[in-house]
This record gives sequence, C-alpha cells and structure tokens, in this order.
Amino acid sequence: MKVNDDHIFYRNPAKFYPTVERGEGVYIYDKSGKRYIDGSGGAVVVSIGHGIPEIREAILKQASEIAFTHGTHFTSEAAVELAERIVSLSPPTLTRVYFLSGGSEAVETAVKMARQYQVDRGQPSKYKVISRWTSYHGNTLGALALGGHTGRRKYYQPLIQHTPHIVPCYCYRCPFNLKPETCSIECADDLEKTILYEGPDAVSAFIAEPVVGATAGALVPKDGYFQKIREICDRYDVLLIVDEVMTGIGRTGKNFAVDHWQVVPDMIVCAKGMASGYTPVFCVVTNDHIHDTIKQGNGAFVHGHTYSQNPLSCATALAVLDYMKTHDLINRSARMGRYLLEKLKTLSRHSIVGDVRGLGLFAGVEFVKDPDTKEPFDAKLKVNTRIGNQAFEKGLITYPGGGGADGIRGDHSLLAPPFIITETQIDEMVAVLDAAIQEVARELTGQ
Ligand SMILES: Cc1ncc(COP(=O)(O)O)c(C=O)c1O
Repeated sequence: MKVNDDHIFYRNPAKFYPTVERGEGVYIYDKSGKRYIDGSGGAVVVSIGHGIPEIREAILKQASEIAFTHGTHFTSEAAVELAERIVSLSPPTLTRVYFLSGGSEAVETAVKMARQYQVDRGQPSKYKVISRWTSYHGNTLGALALGGHTGRRKYYQPLIQHTPHIVPCYCYRCPFNLKPETCSIECADDLEKTILYEGPDAVSAFIAEPVVGATAGALVPKDGYFQKIREICDRYDVLLIVDEVMTGIGRTGKNFAVDHWQVVPDMIVCAKGMASGYTPVFCVVTNDHIHDTIKQGNGAFVHGHTYSQNPLSCATALAVLDYMKTHDLINRSARMGRYLLEKLKTLSRHSIVGDVRGLGLFAGVEFVKDPDTKEPFDAKLKVNTRIGNQAFEKGLITYPGGGGADGIRGDHSLLAPPFIITETQIDEMVAVLDAAIQEVARELTGQ
C-alpha cells in the first residue's frame, strides 16, 4: 500500500522508507510483510526486544492511572522506583538520578550540572569541558560542540562553541602510531596536557564515551585507559562524565561499560537501552556530593525539561528493567556478545574489512581500502551507507557510520542486536552482513 507521506520532513528526503507494521523479538516487519532482523536495535536502543507483552501491560496500567505530571508539581511512585533501580545498577557512590527525555538533552544536563556544582562550591572560574575527537554526544548545539565528528559539525561550525578536544583511544588507528601491547596509553596523557594548557582552574569536566559508538563503531579502549583518565581528573579537580547513552544498562555485558575497568565517574549519562525504545527516557546519575553542593549552594538546579520524570516513561523503563532482571539479560548480553564477536571476526577474510571489535552486544566492523596501510575509502564512495543499504535490502538492520578515520573518511557498520538474540539468529545476521560486504566489495574492487 502506498502511503502519502508528503508532509513528513524526513532526515533524508531522497530515501525510500518502508512503512513499519510491527515488531516481535529481534524482528521488525514492514507493511509488505518483509521481515528484518534488528541487528543494531535501531540506533543501539532496543535492548530487550520488540513487542513484549509485559511492557505493554505496564504502559497500559500507568496510562490508566496518570500519564503526565510536570516535574515542578509532583513526584510519582514510578519515578521513585526507577531511580532506586538505576542506583542499584550504578557504581557505588552514584546515588542521585535526574531524568530526561533525550540523549543530547541528558549530555547537556550533565555539563550544566557540572558547571553549577563548580559555581556552588566556590570555583566559578571552572567552566571548560574537555571532550575527544572521534566521539558523538548528540546533535543539539551544545552536545554537537562536545562531539568530535567533523562531518556532523561542518554545517554548524559558526553556531557551535569551540571547546577543547583531545585524541581518542583508537588502537587500530593510534594517534601516536604506537602498538597497544607496548604503549603507555599516551592518548590518556593528552588529557593531562590539555588540562594544563587550558588551565586546571578553568576546567570543569571531561566527557567521553567509554566505548565509542556512532562515530567509529565500538572503539573499545585499552585496559587501563579509563583508570588513567580517572587519576588525571582527580589530580586536577576535574569532574569525569561518562556518556553511556549507547553503552549503559547492559549493552556491553555489564551494567555500565565503566564497570569493566572498575572506574567510578562523577556522572553517568544514560541510556537508550534503559527503556528499550518503548518510550524516550534518559538520565544523569551522579553522587550525593554534587547533589548536596547544589542543594546547599543555589538551593535548586537551574535547569529542567517538560518531560523530566514523567510517570508514563518511568513506569515503562521500570518494566523494561524488571524484564531484564527476570531474564538475566545483562549476563546474556555478555555471553551472546562473545559469540557475535567470534562470528564477526570471520568477516576479516574480506579484503575491505580492516578491523572487527566490540564488547558485549556492541560490535563494529571497520572497512578500509587497503588493509595493510589502513587507508580509508574516499568518503564520496559512501561505503558504509552502501553496505548498510545492501544489508537492509537483504533483511538485516545495521547502524552504518563514517568519519572515524579523520572526521570525514572512515567507514564502519555498528551491530547491537537485542540481548534476547539467539546463536542461530546471530548466525543469520552475520551471514546477511557477509553477503552485503561481498556485494559492495565486488562493486568497489571489480572482483
Ligand atoms: C553516546 C551518545 N551520546 C548522546 C547521543 C544523543 O542522543 P539523542 O539522539 O537521544 O539526542 C547519542 C545518540 O546516538 C549517543 O550515541
């Protein structure tokens, strides 16, 4: 059936978007009856799978009681319980949850919270936020300024604030041409240098994704990187904010990705997977010290959004977290993630596959023109989009991205299926991706 969609301002107006009908488990069906494996959980959102009856029941129950109240008027049992649950999953000392309805909104909330904390504790000169190149923190202007993706920033350069960026921890393309086996994590030292250049008394916070998602395809840092970053932040009285919008709540096989390195940040921004796409809800988790400093300073956090803490979203996320717990899905993410990575490694036989990496059910395949020199493809060839389109055509949803190598060039596919995925479904997923890569490799190399 042809749908009249002339009135939607699509992200890419030139693209054909099939009309979705329903979702069930790891599958999505369109109106023509075609089935897709949701191999990336959309944009790394769907953690427990589509169409789960328990979540529908929780939504109906909350909606029949109260769907919305504004955060300046009421609290709700759903919000209180959800905060308690998130704290129980968080590293020790992170005990306060501020709810939001978008990832960019949550990133900017963390930055503002850091700034107000600095002022309220009597350090008003501390305002700068350092972030990294090859990173993504969202598309609103403040979050875009922190992100390190040249292609996404290009159009809006005159509107974005120029903030300090350091090099990423990108072992496949080490910014210092070092080998992970023998390096001293020089990329973390770049934070110390930048804090000293900018002036420790001017730096409020450092923000980073523990495993980089959208801009580079699951860049897993070397063990010791985040421990070193934590030490540097402590040495210069700089807050550490980790952006776990993609990685938080089980995606990497632990509650939070920083748990892999036993690092306790000052704030965690999280997480798409918290409500698995059933509702838009995000949060910033922080400690009592920051909370109490603001409480005793100004008295209130000078901030707020319409849907912060809304009961319907909170009840939905709570039901998702219940489901995850009942079915032990975070451990499953770790287990299935190992299987996925092992299977993806077989794709290295394609000459255009340069690197395969990942942690839990969060994996990336990076494509290169030349595997020996790691030279990326010309961005005009749109290699990542072509592989993504081929896979989609064949019934596999991936999350393609570019710009990882130098801000413009670099191609990858990001894979992040729901935690309920089975080994057979992973086999199916990798087989489709394999065929898509084969097809595009043939077009590119003529072989
Ligand atoms: C690490 C990270 N931070 C922030 C965001 C922005 O989230 P949203 O698209 O909900 O604004 C994203 C989205 O992909 C993300 O991956």
